[in-house]
Amino acid sequence: MFFNNLTILQLGLLLLQGSTTFAKHISSQTCNNCSCVIAETLGPKLSAGASFAYSTVAAPRWSEFDAPDPGLVVNVATESDVLITVQYCNENNITFLAQNGGHGWGQTFHLGLEGLLINLSGLNSTTFNADKTEATIQGGALVRSVVDAAYSNGAQIPTGNCNCVGALGAILGGGFGRLMGLYGLGVDNLLSLNVVTANGSQLTVTPETEAELWWALRGTGPNFGIVTSATITSYPVTTAENGAWAASFIFTEDQIEDVVEAVGALDLLPEMAVFLYYAVSDGTPVVLVSGSYAGANNSDGPNAFASITAVGPVVEQAAWEPFNEVNAGGDSFCAKGGYKPAYGAGLAELVPATWRSIWNEFVDFVAINGTSASTVMVDCYPMEKDPDSTRFLFVLSLEIYYQLQCCISFGKSVRSLWYETSGIATNATYINYAVGDEPYSVVYGDNLATLESLKSVWDPSRKFDQFFPL
Ligand SMILES: Cc1cc2nc3c(=O)[nH]c(=O)nc-3n(C[C@H](O)[C@H](O)[C@H](O)COP(=O)(O)OP(=O)(O)OC[C@H]3O[C@@H](n4cnc5c(N)ncnc54)[C@H](O)[C@@H]3O)c2cc1C
Ligand SMILES: *[C@@H]1O[C@H](CO)[C@@H](O)[C@H](O)[C@H]1NC(C)=O
Ligand SMILES: *[C@@H]1O[C@H](CO)[C@@H](O)[C@H](O)[C@H]1NC(C)=O
Ligand SMILES: *[C@@H]1O[C@H](CO)[C@@H](O)[C@H](O)[C@H]1NC(C)=O
Ligand SMILES: *[C@@H]1O[C@H](CO)[C@@H](O)[C@H](O)[C@H]1NC(C)=O
Ligand SMILES: *[C@@H]1O[C@H](CO)[C@@H](O)[C@H](O)[C@H]1NC(C)=O
Ligand SMILES: *[C@@H]1O[C@H](CO)[C@@H](O)[C@H](O)[C@H]1NC(C)=O
Ligand SMILES: *[C@@H]1O[C@H](CO)[C@@H](O)[C@H](O)[C@H]1NC(C)=O
Ligand SMILES: *[C@@H]1O[C@H](CO)[C@@H](O)[C@H](O)[C@H]1NC(C)=O
Repeated sequence: MFFNNLTILQLGLLLLQGSTTFAKHISSQTCNNCSCVIAETLGPKLSAGASFAYSTVAAPRWSEFDAPDPGLVVNVATESDVLITVQYCNENNITFLAQNGGHGWGQTFHLGLEGLLINLSGLNSTTFNADKTEATIQGGALVRSVVDAAYSNGAQIPTGNCNCVGALGAILGGGFGRLMGLYGLGVDNLLSLNVVTANGSQLTVTPETEAELWWALRGTGPNFGIVTSATITSYPVTTAENGAWAASFIFTEDQIEDVVEAVGALDLLPEMAVFLYYAVSDGTPVVLVSGSYAGANNSDGPNAFASITAVGPVVEQAAWEPFNEVNAGGDSFCAKGGYKPAYGAGLAELVPATWRSIWNEFVDFVAINGTSASTVMVDCYPMEKDPDSTRFLFVLSLEIYYQLQCCISFGKSVRSLWYETSGIATNATYINYAVGDEPYSVVYGDNLATLESLKSVWDPSRKFDQFFPL
């Protein structure tokens, strides 16, 4: 308990100070618990824009299943606030966790009432250099604000596909997205990182300054520090080219084998990303394929997806959209709250018989009351642009996850089906799609031993121990 380090004297002193001095930080209630004491002592050290909250209600997480449930939230307003907060936590032996988009679904979070959540949402700027070839994204910016900033600056930045996700939350684990075939993984586009490390230092980390920490942060970021801002390559494009042809197709269940075959055999051009999923629409389980093709309105999108349309979708929607609107198609995945235990696996191929078995289980599962928001999904991306991604175990053409509202046994069963016909020798997963019950070799692959030794150097007392902790 952190009480141990807050002496009785400090506590008494704070009570005497009362609430008026710190009214800008906290409400004027009696301060008689640890969270309140922290707010009163930490508050004066922070910038004027910082504030506290005693509950996360104002910013619910994507899934409440096994979610962090802290006694206190500090809403930081400057990058220095993060540093000061970490130093304060270290001095007082307080467990802390940074929250960005709040979409992490790993079951390894363990922040309870005695813990402090560092809400990064106030650090949401994205700024550009003069020729728009570099952007600096702050630690709490969401994908939506990064995509908007890129679009209005005549550029593209590799981000995730869902507007609600933390941009750096996704990138620090690798960073998949629909521009991956053109620009590579998010991590491979990073240029420098401003990081608050476990020992309470603020460092600018580049391949030149700290080569090993640089390597570890790009893929395992949440285990090594809090990135308050990151500089990343930005790609200037004309407004006419700054868009994508985006399509979605609905198929009937008797077409599953043909659809899976067609998606698996699709020639994934660099401009493309493809998603195959099972979901419930108007009470009925359906098979969907959606995809995008980045480029100008007269691009080859329709031709590139011809083998999918040839299967004969019952519903087909397609339109060219400016790039700041393309992600909106996934907004339904952004709904916050509720229980959504999620499972993932890396796949190198799609096997129709496996997807038939998954369909059968899915139909039974979504017949259970309260499960109809569940989805089984596979993301398919071209991987050619990732020369550096050998550092990841998942050098695969496909990544996969699904969300569900209950029934962990269903989740594990589908994951087993995926593993059995993944087309790779070892079970593997993308860290951002991991659960936490996998052996860590599945999450970290051959990098595990090196990461563990770097962890002992950079975070020997395991302050960053919430996200698949090394
Ligand atoms: C609907 C949905 C869509 C998704 N789409 C994609 C996608 O297109 N591409 C993709 O790659 N992934 C995607 N993901 C997975 C996503 O990358 C992970 O869930 C990621 O952990 C979410 O980051 P967050 O900031 O939203 O979540 P949080 O829960 O806030 O953060 C997750 C972990 O990262 C840490 N963290 C966050 N920001 C920082 C930071 N600045 N510095 C240090 N640590 C930090 C947190 O402390 C926490 O441990 C998606 C997830 C969901 C639920
Ligand atoms: C810090 O807190 C943890 C539990 O949160 C406790 O196990 C540990 O003994 C504490 N350390 C010190 C130095 O007080
Ligand atoms: C701690 O005290 C604050 C201020 O009085 C209050 O709002 C909050 O709910 C308390 N937290 C707990 C866990 O009781
Ligand atoms: C997180 O910070 C943002 C911006 O400062 C704020 O709007 C939001 O309410 C905060 N969330 C919580 C739970 O305090
Ligand atoms: C940053 O957050 C503030 C407060 O929530 C909001 O007003 C502003 O529009 C956001 N900026 C960006 C670039 O998203
Ligand atoms: C933290 O570690 C870094 C790198 O080893 C070192 O340069 C710095 O002095 C340390 N800071 C503190 C406060 O110990
Ligand atoms: C894209 O081109 C088509 C066909 O020429 C046209 O109908 C449509 O309006 C264009 N879309 C946009 C957003 O310009
Ligand atoms: C489904 O669950 C909801 C709430 O949990 C309940 O109100 C409803 O009656 C249930 N429906 C059926 C058909 O059981
Ligand atoms: C992969 O995971 C499954 C459990 O889903 C397990 O039975 C199997 O042994 C694992 N395979 C390997 C190679 O570890």
